[in-house]
Amino acid sequence: MSRAEMGRDEESGEMKRKQLNNEIPSSETRLDRIVFIGRTFEEYMRMFDLDEQALEGRSILDCPAGACSFTAHAGKRGCQVTAADIAYYHDYDKLAMKGLQDIGHAMEHVGLEQDRYLWAEFENVEDLRDERGRALRDCVEDMELHPDRYVPATLPVLPFAAEQFDLTLSAHFLFTYSDRLDGEFHLNTLRELFRVTRQEIRIFPLVDQSGRQSEHLDPLISFADSKGWGAELKAVPYHFQRNANQMLILRKQLK
Ligand SMILES: C[S@@+](CC[C@H](N)C(=O)[O-])C[C@H]1O[C@@H](n2cnc3c(N)ncnc32)[C@H](O)[C@@H]1O
Repeated sequence: MSRAEMGRDEESGEMKRKQLNNEIPSSETRLDRIVFIGRTFEEYMRMFDLDEQALEGRSILDCPAGACSFTAHAGKRGCQVTAADIAYYHDYDKLAMKGLQDIGHAMEHVGLEQDRYLWAEFENVEDLRDERGRALRDCVEDMELHPDRYVPATLPVLPFAAEQFDLTLSAHFLFTYSDRLDGEFHLNTLRELFRVTRQEIRIFPLVDQSGRQSEHLDPLISFADSKGWGAELKAVPYHFQRNANQMLILRKQLK
């Protein structure tokens, strides 16, 4: 089955998950290798500097979406929205449990390194824990109600048709994991996001986990330029991790 055909496939999300599960090497998708954490819809709106009008009538991809509640809430507002992530090869109940464990570990870590964050978005670690829990609950509830919105995918390959989405959002993956994902992976992933996106891609943040601007940013901007995509660095109202308050907007240039 070609990737384009898979995107158009009208079978249920559950069937898709099972089919794809058989095609992916299990070592890449093992649950213990996945950290299932996500931000809330409200955080996404701020980190991507979006308002409701910007979502209206657009087909949107969140990739990788993890346990984020953007898809659930944008879907409730009538948007045509799709979430893709390597975690979605797993069942909802397993993901819900893994998500709770991962929030616990992440909060221990944040508690020990509180000066790496600015405490304006959240009052304290408990407030942050509540918000991450809310995102996870809303995400898993929506996965059960709308499995077709949650598509298992292993970057740098996506099971979608060319130009399937008007807008693609990508948070806390590219640039964030600059130490683990090399330059070639960044380029291949961006090439794939270009393939499936018709108008615009927004990526946040532009720093790695230590708060330094990613070494992959400039090569990706040059690559975008060579492919006919304009790049803009834009400050956003969301600022939690120190130095992480800028996004990259890539717009396909009209020929
Ligand atoms: C830190 S989370 C970010 C989730 C969400 N975008 C957010 O900002 O809250 C990173 C996500 O990348 C997913 N991931 C890691 N490697 C991947 C790959 N090769 N393909 C697709 N998703 C991947 C993980 O499962 C995880 O959900």
